[in-house]
Amino acid sequence: MQPTNRSRRRDDDDDAKSDPEIDPTIPSIARVYDYALGGKDNYQADREVLDRALAIDPHIPTMAREHRAWSRHVIKWLVARTELGGAGIDQFLDCGSGLPTMDNTHEVAHKVNPAAKVVYVDNDPAVVTHGRALLEDNENTCFVAADLTRPAELLEDTKVAAFLDLDRPVGLIQCATIHHIDRLADQQAVMAGYVSRLAPGSYVALTHVHDPADGSEVSRLAQATEAAYHSTNATTHWRPRAEIETLFDGLEMVDPGLVPLHQWWPAGPLLQELPPVYHIILGGVGRKPRPSSG
Ligand SMILES: C[S@@+](CC[C@H](N)C(=O)[O-])C[C@H]1O[C@@H](n2cnc3c(N)ncnc32)[C@H](O)[C@@H]1O
Repeated sequence: MQPTNRSRRRDDDDDAKSDPEIDPTIPSIARVYDYALGGKDNYQADREVLDRALAIDPHIPTMAREHRAWSRHVIKWLVARTELGGAGIDQFLDCGSGLPTMDNTHEVAHKVNPAAKVVYVDNDPAVVTHGRALLEDNENTCFVAADLTRPAELLEDTKVAAFLDLDRPVGLIQCATIHHIDRLADQQAVMAGYVSRLAPGSYVALTHVHDPADGSEVSRLAQATEAAYHSTNATTHWRPRAEIETLFDGLEMVDPGLVPLHQWWPAGPLLQELPPVYHIILGGVGRKPRPSSG
């Protein structure tokens, strides 16, 4: 399936002329993802990356939309009232939020709880420009231009501190972000930096690209896709499940654990196996335990 809205392509000099930090010649992961979702805030260099991936597997744009749908599904559950079986979370830190698109985190959360606070974080110049304009929608949302790999700095940022009460549970969204950090040890340190600072009862939703590294078709597809994405401003690292699981250290996994996205509480029975491309990204939700009273 092809991305939608291809006709609404941005001319290569639109934002780049008004924002000197935007370099349309270097593919940006935020803009490649925007293109995969059918958005218009992307340039030729971005589209070439996805076109290379499409040549490997035509389901890749569909998968980007499934990924987005997964995080919306999780946010709905996180914000749902506890008496209805949800997590009752009313404040979110959406790291690496990406370009504003349909069903942004605050729009999904506010359908359930209009008072929920949402702080968006990203460091891509195009996201910063559009994020400030479109994500700071009402008094319960704000956008912070910051580096998500520095949890201490980010959580102490005055805007974040003014918006979120870090003494209470938070929903930390790390969807398709941590896999842009090069070394596993650094990924683990970043996640530990967040988890140690979150209040007990907080939840972490995390997705990460997956390479079982076992010579299987899924692994071959993961490696070919990794190569197709190599030229972007943020290299993406595919990893085996056991490594991705370590990013949830200090958290209790919510059922069904770390799984291909279509297996996390699907809307109904899966009447057929999905193709290998649906196994090259895994997602899960972890909960920071409350200290035991004993
Ligand atoms: C693949 S997109 C995912 C967007 C969104 N999380 C989603 O799932 O729909 C990755 C996003 O992470 C952002 N990002 C990558 N590294 C970052 C960093 N060190 N600090 C802040 N944002 C970062 C990129 O700019 C991009 O917008």
